[in-house]
Amino acid sequence: MAVVVGSTRPSRICPDVARWARDVLGRDAQIRYELLDLAEIGLPLLDEPLKASLHRYAHEHTKRWSAIASSFDGFLFVSPQYNWGYPAVLKNTLDYLYEEWHDRPASVLSYGTRGGRKGAAQLPQVLQGCV
Ligand SMILES: Cc1cc2nc3c(=O)[nH]c(=O)nc-3n(C[C@H](O)[C@H](O)[C@H](O)COP(=O)(O)O)c2cc1C
Repeated sequence: MAVVVGSTRPSRICPDVARWARDVLGRDAQIRYELLDLAEIGLPLLDEPLKASLHRYAHEHTKRWSAIASSFDGFLFVSPQYNWGYPAVLKNTLDYLYEEWHDRPASVLSYGTRGGRKGAAQLPQVLQGCV
């Protein structure tokens, strides 16, 4: 199971939140949880000429991201709240792929200065569109 680090800004706290989640979930669990940091995936803003559902990727960075995402059985998206939504980098990362999300369980762990409920509420709707 991938624990997705869903923010990429330089002073982000998301890796700490994600590591905490990985460690807590991993206690006495039979599922293996691994961090998947979107800053390391490092995708540009979506630059594929064809929509992802056609699965004909032009760029090496997309093929690499497809292979990485396909190697996980499920995803926990760890996401801060930005202006009542979730970070653009997370949407961009989702939009790159389509089939790779199918039949894989996904969940959301959100946080924010005043809470992450509004951002978290948006993610399931988007995920239902691509799973
Ligand atoms: C662009 C931006 C927008 C934010 N909007 C909200 C918000 O709507 N609600 C909230 O509670 N916190 C908001 N915050 C505070 C963040 O939730 C907080 O800074 C958090 O640490 C961000 O996660 P990160 O450090 O992993 O990027 C915002 C922060 C940023 C940078």
